[in-house]
Amino acid sequence: MNSDDPTQNRVAPGAPDAETLRFCRDLPKVELHVHLEGCLEPDLLMTLARRNDVAVPWKTAEQLRAAYRFENLSSFLELYFAGCQVLCTRQDFHDLTTAYLDRAHADGVVHAEIFLGPQSFTDRGIATSAFLDGVLDAISDAGERSGISASLLVSAHRHRSEKEAFELLDSVAPWADRIAGFGLGGAEIGNPPEKFTRYFAELRRQRFRTCVHAGEEGPAAYVRQAFELLEPDRIDHGVAILDDERLVRDVAAARTPLTVCPTSNARLNVVPSLRAHPLPALLSSGLNVSLHSDDPAYFESYLTDTYATTAVHLDLDRPTLANLAANAIRSAFLPPAAQQAFLNRLETQVKQHLP
Ligand code: ADE
Ligand code: ZN
Repeated sequence: MNSDDPTQNRVAPGAPDAETLRFCRDLPKVELHVHLEGCLEPDLLMTLARRNDVAVPWKTAEQLRAAYRFENLSSFLELYFAGCQVLCTRQDFHDLTTAYLDRAHADGVVHAEIFLGPQSFTDRGIATSAFLDGVLDAISDAGERSGISASLLVSAHRHRSEKEAFELLDSVAPWADRIAGFGLGGAEIGNPPEKFTRYFAELRRQRFRTCVHAGEEGPAAYVRQAFELLEPDRIDHGVAILDDERLVRDVAAARTPLTVCPTSNARLNVVPSLRAHPLPALLSSGLNVSLHSDDPAYFESYLTDTYATTAVHLDLDRPTLANLAANAIRSAFLPPAAQQAFLNRLETQVKQHLP
């Protein structure tokens, strides 16, 4: 292996021990930053490709997994959007959502707010009802089966136009009361938040909760634009914020959550290594930070692994991990009583493990 090759930037050795894994697994965790399309495991991707007769450039799931070496966000998104091609029918979306939620439940996730980017599917003429009903039915089926709580966030692609984002909003309007919020993702550099100022004003006018990916590959100026122009309820990633001290103070004072994804950042070379991740600086700046997985199938890190691997590489103690889990609960788009119930569960769990 060539150590100078940036695409080899896997999470470095230093696997968490069994005790840390168990502690992290048993924390009642809330996942606020996960893309459903990023939960498509290679086996399911290949199964759906065969089922829908979609040609893919890989012969086996192993071949596909071997392609999971990313230079940056764009090279990842290329593969991610290629994977989206195999998702065609309502059953496909139901199967993918079910697979994710069953795995998340086994992983100790008690509530998940899941992004879906419909523009990948409407482009190919797939009906909005196919993906929304497929996902929403799977969410309610999983809730009945295992008790996991989940909701849907509809995400627009920032590399497309604002006009297309408005069309997306119109197309999902009949499902509005089953949508927990709206997001903005995709290729960041060259697509600053200001491009979507009117769209976010409309979302706020309609009283939707909102989140914006900002400061992942983009600069602190994009985080500032997101915060000041789009006024989101949450900022996804936001790690570049540390380059702007005044912005750090403003975002910390507003308690706007940053949903941070250290294992994703390491795999996409947003940071030189997981050990160099700025999570400790974000925390000590007083920012409202929580930990998430982003695209767990592609980055091979579901939420327990994300907590545990981050803990090992950044030397986080258990009270810090519990604090991160509490921040996620308080940042969820849930009513206060539901948040409090999860906080109580967290406190009970942590008391068993901490003096
Ligand atoms: N869509 C899926 N994963 C993403 C990421 N890490 N950044 C922006 N958009 C995404
Ligand atoms: Zn993301």
